[in-house]
Amino acid sequence: MTTRRTGFKYGSKLMTKTTVVASIAIAAAFAATSVFAADPVVGKAKYETTCVACHGANGISIAPIYPNVAGQKEEYLVAQMKAFRDGTRPNPIMAPMAQGLTDTDIANIAVFLAALKP
Ligand code: HEC
Repeated sequence: MTTRRTGFKYGSKLMTKTTVVASIAIAAAFAATSVFAADPVVGKAKYETTCVACHGANGISIAPIYPNVAGQKEEYLVAQMKAFRDGTRPNPIMAPMAQGLTDTDIANIAVFLAALKP
């Protein structure tokens, strides 16, 4: 019984060590990817330069002919902005807006808009 308990303790010590090592590895992976992760603060700044005029400060549009974009799904927003940019979703208003955006701008704007209250 004592031997078994010692064995168990040793086992959980090993487990703890493994968990710590795994946590460090995961943290390092996050740190490495966060360099390229979309930035909602940068996205907000970009959004406020032009988009805000139609889609509103909080992503709630200022007129019935413009869609609300607040709280929309991030992946969908990225797809739509790219579709406007490459013409697969043709729209005379949005095409020139999207043509001025890089992939990074699009990712940043999408992550900002997706976090807004719809
Ligand atoms: C002059 C007004 C105007 C401005 C400025 C504008 N948009 Fe739009 N936006 C529209 C209109 C109109 C549509 C709907 C287009 C359609 O019917 O396909 C739209 C659609 C969209 C959609 C798709 C919404 C959906 O539900 O499918 C996104 C995303 C979007 N705009 C993002 C942006 C971003 C980002 C900017 C700034 C770079 C911007 N818009 C600037 C008028 C505008």
